[in-house]
Amino acid sequence: MTPPPPGCASLGALCARVSGPLRLLLLLWTAAATQGHPKSGPRISAVWKGRAGQDWVDFGLAEPHTVLFHEPGSSTVWVGGRGKVYVFDFPEGKNASKRTVNIGSTKGSCLDKRVNGTVESLGEKRGYAPFSPDENSLVLFDGDEVYSTIRKQEYNGKIPRFRRIQGEIELYTSDTVMQNPQFIKATIVHQDQAYDDKIYYFFREDNPDKNPEAPLNVSRVAQLCRGDQGGESSLSVSKWNTFLKAMLVCSDVTTNKNFNRLQDVFLLPDPDGQWRDTRVYGVFSNPWNYSAVCVYSLDDIDRVFRMSSLKGYHSSLPNPRPGKCLPDQQPIPTETFQVADSHPEVAQRVEPMGPLKTPLFHSKYHYQKVVVHRMQASRGETFHVLYLTTDRGTIHKVVESVERERSLAFNIMEIQPFHHPAAIQAMSLDAERRKLYVSSQWEVSQVPLDLCEVYGGGCHGCLMARDPYCGWDQGHCVSIYSSQGPVLQSINPDEPHKECPNPQPDRAPLQKVSLARNSRYYLSCPMESRHATYSWRHEENVEQSCEPGHQSPNCILFIENLTARQYGHYLCEAQEGSYFREAQHWELLPDDRAMAEHLLGRARALAASLWLGVLPTLTLGLLVH
Ligand SMILES: *[C@@H]1O[C@H](CO)[C@@H](O)[C@H](O)[C@H]1NC(C)=O
Ligand SMILES: *[C@@H]1O[C@H](CO)[C@@H](O)[C@H](O)[C@H]1NC(C)=O
Ligand SMILES: *[C@@H]1O[C@H](CO)[C@@H](O)[C@H](O)[C@H]1NC(C)=O
Ligand SMILES: *[C@@H]1O[C@H](CO)[C@@H](O)[C@H](O)[C@H]1NC(C)=O
Ligand SMILES: *[C@@H]1O[C@H](CO)[C@@H](O)[C@H](O)[C@H]1NC(C)=O
Repeated sequence: MTPPPPGCASLGALCARVSGPLRLLLLLWTAAATQGHPKSGPRISAVWKGRAGQDWVDFGLAEPHTVLFHEPGSSTVWVGGRGKVYVFDFPEGKNASKRTVNIGSTKGSCLDKRVNGTVESLGEKRGYAPFSPDENSLVLFDGDEVYSTIRKQEYNGKIPRFRRIQGEIELYTSDTVMQNPQFIKATIVHQDQAYDDKIYYFFREDNPDKNPEAPLNVSRVAQLCRGDQGGESSLSVSKWNTFLKAMLVCSDVTTNKNFNRLQDVFLLPDPDGQWRDTRVYGVFSNPWNYSAVCVYSLDDIDRVFRMSSLKGYHSSLPNPRPGKCLPDQQPIPTETFQVADSHPEVAQRVEPMGPLKTPLFHSKYHYQKVVVHRMQASRGETFHVLYLTTDRGTIHKVVESVERERSLAFNIMEIQPFHHPAAIQAMSLDAERRKLYVSSQWEVSQVPLDLCEVYGGGCHGCLMARDPYCGWDQGHCVSIYSSQGPVLQSINPDEPHKECPNPQPDRAPLQKVSLARNSRYYLSCPMESRHATYSWRHEENVEQSCEPGHQSPNCILFIENLTARQYGHYLCEAQEGSYFREAQHWELLPDDRAMAEHLLGRARALAASLWLGVLPTLTLGLLVH
């Protein structure tokens, strides 16, 4: 028995999932990634707790297969679960609520339609919802048109197809044009002429190149003309006649790193409505599960399909050329169909934007989903902020900006969005409300994009975070949206802290400890930024230095056998470019044995809490000889 399908998966995501108290564990890191050579690592770690009752709702039971739907600007999130639709509401400033609508689903069909805050029957529809939850399903809605990769009958055909199931004449892809496709994303692009409107879809398939050196899978973008009416011959009737596919390349030629496996795609439309300037963000991974983000332009994709020759086809192309959309619903000539059907791949590959055609950045994390928010900082500069889900159930916030013709990506924050840590099943961006809606099998959370209260370290820490949503105002690190007037933000990505009114960051408070001669001791300094070098300095000498990439989360200075000249002041200093901060300041004072005994207990307790799991074999803390 296969479980019933998610309720109304067909309605393009009638379904959302909401979770319990939102708790964000933030590991803030700035990963400066210039031209695909990122530095990465947590910068600051902090815990952000959402407002109880307002930012999360749970299902009340496990919902292993859900579909999430959220209309930007609304406070409602719809989640299709097993035989149910959950309706979660996140009203501004009030507690969230949950309703469930039982839909008694029928296998493979969709019965619901969302109307005025509730659901009502749509009649039985085939091909709208998959027969089992793990099917390779993609459904695209545009007005009255519906496109789907879902089979219409449960036991009908094993070869996945991309089909038009409602609107114009029903069409499907030839079974030979894709090899074991895994569908990722589909979109309709309205071009300059209505007859030229395109459907693009992104997928992976088995690599026809069986060379042992070649990757197993290749990533693709396919095009179809929206006005395609199928052909006139018995072979071409009911089939898409305008199908072409191209390889999507995401590799860094300078380091010879290839990322072949497309995971997710997000299309960021141009603010002026120019379809050619739509940015296509692709998340890719390699066999070691490292990731890269490559950005393509729709203009480049369109040009490749319009201009390229066909792979393996060496005669002159028929007229009209394969893939061309014809006006007035003219049928595609059979000869053009036959050439395209036997040579569906264009020879030219789609490469990332930019002069070097390299990834925006790559990383050791295994990213799975991406959404992108185009935002304007307080002085009007535009940033693209990427939210990427990891396989550890967290979200990374990566800021892309173009400075002096370098494309920079800073990974500034790691967010744990759930009350109960769990894998992220779905993520939806609401640019209007400036929220992310994310779901796990237990809960749905609402995460604000402008999390500014998490940045410590005063003005310097606030600006060093390089978060375009946050700025310094009246002694606090605040959201640019909550502030009345302009806030202090940095336009200098290398030395943001230099714009703070106080030229020096706050000094660390002096802490004192009394120690007996010949004692053994250590000093520990938390490494908030993985881009900084931390050093312990005693008088003029650097006693210990911890470079970025240091294994432990703390920079430790051991004193094996305290001598007279080792008493005095110890400073832990963090340096990141020209940013310099005193993180810790200790003074070791000579004392008698009684005082040392007194401190022993405290130091041991502290040591145990700091060291558990770090260096378990070491004797911890203060030992008096
Ligand atoms: C909102 O939820 C919180 C936590 O569950 C609760 O303490 C508070 O009373 C609720 N507020 C309202 C107005 O229901
Ligand atoms: C939607 O619901 C509201 C409140 O229940 C009702 O006042 C309104 O008439 C409804 N609109 C439609 C189109 O049914
Ligand atoms: C990738 O290739 C392997 C081996 O051919 C195959 O089992 C798998 O289904 C492919 N994955 C895709 C097409 O995403
Ligand atoms: C990569 O990730 C997939 C899915 O998360 C997992 O099944 C696979 O074992 C991982 N591969 C490696 C090499 O870690
Ligand atoms: C520490 O130094 C003193 C004097 O040099 C020596 O007597 C003692 O054995 C040393 N202790 C350890 C644990 O090495």
